[in-house]
Amino acid sequence: MKAQKVSAKSTAFYIIGLLVFSAIIVIASVSLITRDALFLIDNGLLAVSMLLSVFFVLVVTYVYAVYIIRPNYKVTSQFREYIIVNSIITLVIVFSSILYSSLSPYAVPIAAVSLLVAVLLTQRLAIVCGVSSFVIMMIVCPSVAYAQNGAVSFMNLCGLIVGLISSICMTYIVHRGYTRFKITAGALAIGAGVSLISIPFAIIENDVTFIDVLKDVTFSFLGNAIAVGVSSVLLPIYEHIFRVWTDFRLAEVCSLNQPLLRQMREKAPGTLSHSLTVSILAENAAIAIGLNPFMARACAMYHDVGKVKNPQFFVENLDGGYNPHDDLIIDVSVKIITGHPEEGAEILRAKRMPDTIIKAALEHHGDSTLMFFYLKAKGITEGDLKTDEYRYSNPKPSTKYSAIIMICDMAEATIRAKKPTTKEELEDIVSNIISGRILDGQFSDCDISLQDLSKIKESICTAMPSMLHQRIDYNKAKERR
Ligand SMILES: [Fe+2]
Ligand SMILES: [Fe+2]
Repeated sequence: MKAQKVSAKSTAFYIIGLLVFSAIIVIASVSLITRDALFLIDNGLLAVSMLLSVFFVLVVTYVYAVYIIRPNYKVTSQFREYIIVNSIITLVIVFSSILYSSLSPYAVPIAAVSLLVAVLLTQRLAIVCGVSSFVIMMIVCPSVAYAQNGAVSFMNLCGLIVGLISSICMTYIVHRGYTRFKITAGALAIGAGVSLISIPFAIIENDVTFIDVLKDVTFSFLGNAIAVGVSSVLLPIYEHIFRVWTDFRLAEVCSLNQPLLRQMREKAPGTLSHSLTVSILAENAAIAIGLNPFMARACAMYHDVGKVKNPQFFVENLDGGYNPHDDLIIDVSVKIITGHPEEGAEILRAKRMPDTIIKAALEHHGDSTLMFFYLKAKGITEGDLKTDEYRYSNPKPSTKYSAIIMICDMAEATIRAKKPTTKEELEDIVSNIISGRILDGQFSDCDISLQDLSKIKESICTAMPSMLHQRIDYNKAKERR
């Protein structure tokens, strides 16, 4: 949830919502554990104290999420994040209650909360939500056991502690560059490792047999395996219902089979090829300054999507043949070219793409001057000619992603045109592009630092030579022999 100001009215709304989630958790869990729908009515005082305790845990989680977690790019609406977090905690706890009472306390899959929140939102929030779920289970399960038997079994608590340990470990397998396979394999490996922790817990108990220990170990592993299964089922549902842009989805939208990219391949193959090269540069630049490479790649792939409306007017699609700008008056050419960022943004908005990708398409030229046409017009104009009419009329980059795309876009086009032969020439070109953009004020609305810009320059200069490598002409080689 974003660290933004929350009004008193919406805070009241969120707090009432937390009370509803607490009531669902307490009523459903206790009824499932006791298999007695009237248990809470018969134990009114216990019901109220459990409800207030669970509510307190959810409020602490909410306050942490709103005021301490920094904004993340995956979800832009605070309300959506609120629903995602609380519904995951509620669903997993209710499901855990079924396994707790029917299988074993070691089989509770509360690690699913951490796994899901880490992938859908952030790792820090995932740890907090994992701990919150453990505390809620520790409130509900022992309270019910005490009310039923007058005592709490040590084994019941140990099972939940093992669940907490795997929950925390699970958050650490979700990091940059994760894949579905890596997460599943990592989670199962954690399950195998953590299940061994149940051995000393089982041995501490009195009169345990080897079979009892084996059972606890098996159920611990099973709990983690179930957590992975629950996460795999719920993840795509949450991704689509709440439109969360996880790295999985960002990787999917970069697939060349996506309708918009297919359209680009058919109508503007030159633009697609340019976008692919920019995507490699942008991905490297994002890694260099600690941003998400999946998001940078997606921004690059779609930054020029607006060109599909008039592909024949863009140089990369001309293929050295007829240039329609030769027959157009300069003002018309300028209008067509400067229109592509807004047209791209419109297409992306219609497809409900993430804001960051839409902004990159809209802002990647900022309000810079269309130098080629300005100089062409100046050549046929007497007296002074102002640059204002030859500028893009779009917002300047407002995010670091838009700034990266602006630099990589220009770098790719300029390097391809100038074909530098030495490292120094290449560095000069990239330095001039960056300093030119700074002097033109293109980064004045973005919090990108000079250090970031220097790292971006370095990453482009490292990646570009291998992308410009010379192919050997085998026919010429044969002729020489
Ligand atoms: Fe562009
Ligand atoms: Fe471009």
